[in-house]
This record gives sequence, structure tokens and C-alpha cells, in this order.
Amino acid sequence: MSEDMLFPYLTQEHEMIRQTARDFAQKEIAPIAAEFDESGEFPYKTIRKMGEMGFMGIEVPEEYGGAGMDTLAYVLALEEICKADASHGTIMSVNNSLYAYGLLKFGTEEQKQKYLFPVASGQAIGAYSLTEPMSGSDAGTMRSRAVRKGDEYIINGRKSWVTSGPVADYVVLFTMTDPEKGHRGITAFLIDARKPGFIRSKKEPKLGIRASATSEIVFEDYRAGVEDRLGEEGEGFKIAMTVLDAGRIGIGAQALGIAEAAYAASLEYARQREAFGQKIGQFQGIAFQLADMKTQIEASRLLVYHAALAKERSKKTGERFTLEASIAKLYASEMACFVTDAAVQIHGGMGYSKELPVERYYRDARITRIYEGTSEIQRLVISRLELGLR
Ligand code: CAA
Repeated sequence: MSEDMLFPYLTQEHEMIRQTARDFAQKEIAPIAAEFDESGEFPYKTIRKMGEMGFMGIEVPEEYGGAGMDTLAYVLALEEICKADASHGTIMSVNNSLYAYGLLKFGTEEQKQKYLFPVASGQAIGAYSLTEPMSGSDAGTMRSRAVRKGDEYIINGRKSWVTSGPVADYVVLFTMTDPEKGHRGITAFLIDARKPGFIRSKKEPKLGIRASATSEIVFEDYRAGVEDRLGEEGEGFKIAMTVLDAGRIGIGAQALGIAEAAYAASLEYARQREAFGQKIGQFQGIAFQLADMKTQIEASRLLVYHAALAKERSKKTGERFTLEASIAKLYASEMACFVTDAAVQIHGGMGYSKELPVERYYRDARITRIYEGTSEIQRLVISRLELGLR
């Protein structure tokens, strides 16, 4: 059964971006993915090309440097990139949803021209900085500070787990302006990494998505102008959460792409590999695993595309899509870990070998259950909304 039979609502534009992303990913990214995974180097060349193709600001209107397409187009393109390499997908997802979406939704005209255009057009790289060493899932408890002095804010503190931190040109930063107020004392700022006081710190050695650089960032008397504040003082936490809703759809799409690649490899292997006188796909133990993998992939596809449509709708209605995003992220990321684990098992020793990409899919899938809100946080968000507690 083809993807189209399972989701027959794609327009010609969707088909076009999916095919373009698929061709590019398979031709230019898949052949270099293992090498960059091994070295942990940032893949500047292919990321720049993705920018030129419009993949770094898919939903951003053309006047701000983007491709002016919809959320489903973004998800379809991201899925294809992640089938080839999840590291490229992570960089793309942060630029599109964690950076560009927030600026588009909450930025002033001047901010969009200065901070959105270069990132959406692929000339610069954006990052999102919420987490701190002592503030992860409990994002409202951060210790970094911005103190206002006249028309400036002086920012100090340490942020951690910043995707693209070692290479980002601009960062959306969340920091405390009024600690007494808890999460209502958090404010968002647009940070220019070339300015003094912005210090790239420890680069994280990671299990997976190794070509996407992640680091700490230290702020030492960094001076942000009032015009660089995103939204009003105290609105930062809501901005961070709104943006994460969008980000979580991207992670769902990433998980879907990784799982599809692992499934395709497993199917092929089950058709070719022989044991005990027959193809291993003829053993029920393997065949039923393939059936479960396929079923969960297609269920995830529907949830991720459904969340994309909910986000698209929200552009007109203003309604939140928190529930759809969290459900899609939770299910798809758990699914990707199940599918990539099964893929290693079906491949046996070859699944464990770096000669095939299967072990990379397995390592890359694992982060999708952690970043942009762990599976436990998604369950918290979903259950609170269902119980009417939020
Ligand atoms: N949209 C808009 N507003 C929201 C919201 C959403 N999705 N979720 C919560 N809010 C608002 C609430 O309405 C509430 O507003 P009021 O101040 O008016 O009351 C406020 O935010 C606080 O909400 P909660 O009381 O629910 O807050 P909480 O402290 O209980 O935390 C949480 C909620 C869901 C646990 C949240 O802290 C959370 O999502 N934590 C996980 C953080 C996370 O995902 N971190 C990953 C960072 S990014 C990353 O991974 C690195 C990277 O570079 C990719």
C-alpha cells in the first residue's frame, strides 16, 4: 500500500515538495550521513544547500525569506530529510519550528526583517535556548537573569542542550526578568551570537544525531536592546510553550522518517536474507514483527499529519494545537524506538554493525523520546488537558 492511499489529502504542491526533498535527501544526504555521524562534524555544505532550496523556512512567507508553504509541506519535507539523516532533520526542525515559528508569531516587523529573514532564507542558523543545567522538564525554574538598565537588558547565566549552539548565528533565549513571579517572570530575547558576552561552551558528546551540534551557551554581561525583546516582559514562558507545540510536530515527523528508513531496510533484508533454507521473511517471527512495524508507522503518519493540519487550522482560528502535537510526538517517538529496535533485531549481527545504517537509526531514534519534552512530559500535557486540569 502506498503512502498516498493511506493519506489521500495531499495537493500537487505537497507532492512536489515531498519529491524534491526525497530526491535531494537520497542523492546528497544519504551518502554522507555515516561519515558525518562518525566524525560529529556539522554538515555546513548540505545545510546551506537546504537553505537555498527553501527548507529552512518552509512556512515563512516569501517576504521574510521563506518558502511560504503550509505545515503539512514542512512535515513532508522533514520526514524525507530524516529518512536519509536525522541530524540534518534536527537542524532543519530547529530552524523552522523552534526559531522561525516563534519569530513569525510574536516578532515585530523590524525583528522579522533583522532576525527572521537570514535564517528562513538559509543564510544563517537559528537556535532555541530554554533548558539550563538545573532546569529541564521543569522549564519554569530557570536561574539565568536579564536585568533591565535603561534601554538595555544585561543577561547572565548558563544555558544547556542548545541544538545548533556551537554554530548558531541567532538564538531565541528564554531567561528570567522577574524571579519573584516564577514562570510569569520569564522573558524571551533575540540574541545575536556575534555580540560580546555570548560564549559557546561545552559541546555535548552524544549517542545519536551526532552531526547536529549541541552545546551549552554562557551569557556574561550580554547586552540586549529593548527592541530585541520578543513579546512583553513575563510572556516568555507562554511563547516557549507555544513554540514547543510546533516543535513537537517536527519531532513526530522526524521519528516517522527514521522509522520508515529502518522499516524499508528491514523489509528488504527479510526478502533477501536466508536462514534454515528459506527467506527470513517467511518465518512468522519476522513477518509479524514487520506487520507491527508497518502498522505503527502508518498510525504515526496519521497522527503527525493530523497535528500538522491542526496547526495549519490554528493560523486562522488562533486555537491551540497542544493536544494534537503532544499525542503525535509521544506516539511517533515511542514507535520509532520500537521500530528501530526491531530493525536491529531483524538484521541480527548486521544490525549491530556500522557497515549498515540500521544501528544509526536506532541511536538517532532515541533522542525523539527526550528532546522538546520527554515522553513523560507529553503524557503530563495530554492527561492534564483531558482531565480539564489546564
Ligand atoms: N501554549 C500556551 N501556553 C501554555 C502552554 C502551551 N502549550 N502550556 C502551558 N501554557 C501556559 C499555561 O496556560 C500557564 O499560563 P498562566 O501563567 O496564565 O497560568 C503557564 O503556561 C504555565 O503552565 P503550567 O502551569 O502548565 O506550567 P508547568 O510549570 O506545570 O509546566 C510543562 C508545564 C508542560 C511541564 C512545561 O514546563 C514543559 O513543557 N516542560 C518541558 C520543557 C521542554 O520541552 N523542554 C525541551 C526544551 S527544547 C530542547 O529540547 C532543546 C532543543 O534545542 C531542541
